[in-house]
Amino acid sequence: MVQQIAFPSGNVDFMFGSSFDELWQTYDKQQVVIITNEHIAKLYARLFKGLKILVIPPGESSKDLHTIGSLARQLLEMQATRKTMLIGVGGGVITDIVGFLATVYLRGVAFGFVPTTLLGMVDAAIGGKNGVNSGMHKNILGTITQPKFILYDVRFLDTLPDDEWSNGFAEIIKYACIFDADMFADLAGHNISCYQDHDDAALIELINKCAGWKIRTVQEDEKETGIRKLLNFGHTAAHAIENLYELPHGKAVGIGMVIAAMISEDVSGLDRRATDKLKTLLSQYHLPVQLKFNAKKAMDILKMDKKRVDDKIDYIVLEQPGKGAVHALPFDKIEKALAAYESNH
Ligand SMILES: NC(=O)c1ccc[n+]([C@@H]2O[C@H](COP(=O)([O-])OP(=O)(O)OC[C@H]3O[C@@H](n4cnc5c(N)ncnc54)[C@H](O)[C@@H]3O)[C@@H](O)[C@H]2O)c1
Repeated sequence: MVQQIAFPSGNVDFMFGSSFDELWQTYDKQQVVIITNEHIAKLYARLFKGLKILVIPPGESSKDLHTIGSLARQLLEMQATRKTMLIGVGGGVITDIVGFLATVYLRGVAFGFVPTTLLGMVDAAIGGKNGVNSGMHKNILGTITQPKFILYDVRFLDTLPDDEWSNGFAEIIKYACIFDADMFADLAGHNISCYQDHDDAALIELINKCAGWKIRTVQEDEKETGIRKLLNFGHTAAHAIENLYELPHGKAVGIGMVIAAMISEDVSGLDRRATDKLKTLLSQYHLPVQLKFNAKKAMDILKMDKKRVDDKIDYIVLEQPGKGAVHALPFDKIEKALAAYESNH
C-alpha cells in the first residue's frame, strides 16, 4: 500500500506493508545505488544481486564526514549522476548517512529508505532530518530533506538482534510519554516478547501508530521550531552520554528519559509515581534505567546541544504520561539534575 504524504519540503511515498522487491515496479535498477552496512549486505545478499552497492562498516562510528567523503568518492568513481537514486537499506545510522550524502552529492540527488531496524521504522527513517556526528557531538552536522520513499518490509526484523529490539522500544516509549497515554498503558500491559516473538499484527499496528505520530509532528513543524522539539524527549541527556560511553542510541534514550522525568518532577509537577512507572516500563522492554556516568563531562557536551539558546536549553519534560512540554532550562538546573541522577544511581 503506497500512501503519498505531503511535508512542507516535499512528498514522501510511504510504502507500508511492502516487500523489498516491490521497489523495482517503480524504480529503475540501473539508476539505483544501494548503500548499506556489512551486516545487512551479508544477511540479505540475495536481495542485492545485480544491483550497484556500496557497503560501510556497521555502527555509530561510521556516521561521520569521513564516511560521507569516502562514499562520495566511490559514487564519483561509479560515475553516479544527478539521475542516480541512492537507497539506504539499514538502521538509523545508514538512513542518516544516506540522507545527508544524497543532499550534498552533486548538490542533491534523489534518495529513498528501507529501514531494517525497529528504531528506523518508527523514527529514524521518517522526517527528513539527516545528521552525522563530529567527535563527541551527535548529529551536529545535518540537513533536512525528505526522501522520495520509505519502504516498510517488516520481514527484515526477523534477523534483528534482541538488543536492537529494545533500542527500538526506547523510541516507541518516547511517543507514548509525550503524546499517547493510551499507548503508555497498552505498553505497560505487555512486554517486549509479546511483540518480538508472538504477535505480528500487534507489532505492525504499533509501528504504524508511532510512524503516524512522527509523520503528523513533522508535517506540522518540519524545521523544529515548535512541536517537533517534543520528539527530543530523553534525547538531550542521551546525546551527551551516548558517544561518551559508547552506548547504543536506544539505551541512552532510556536513561535520558529517566533523567527528563526526574527534571519534570521539579519543573512541571510530574508525579513521582509516573517516573517510577516509566522506569518499570523501560525494564519491561529490557532498557536500562541506571548508569554510572560523570555528570560534569556529560554537562560539557550538553552545553554544545543544538537546542541551546544562550545559557539555556529547550528541555523536553512531561506534565503527565502522554503529555510532553518544552521548558527553557538554565544550565545550572540541568547540571543539578545530572548530579542528582549520578548520586542516586
Ligand atoms: N534522523 C532522525 O530523525 C533520527 C531519529 C532517531 C535516531 N536516529 C539515529 O539513528 C541511529 C540509531 O539507529 P539504529 O538503532 O537503527 O542503529 P543502527 O543503524 O546502528 O543499527 C543497529 C545494528 O543493527 C544491525 N541491523 C540493522 N538491521 C538489521 C537487521 N534487519 N538484521 C540484523 N541486523 C540488523 C546493524 O548492522 C547495526 O549493527 C543513531 O545514529 C541515531 O542518531 C536518527
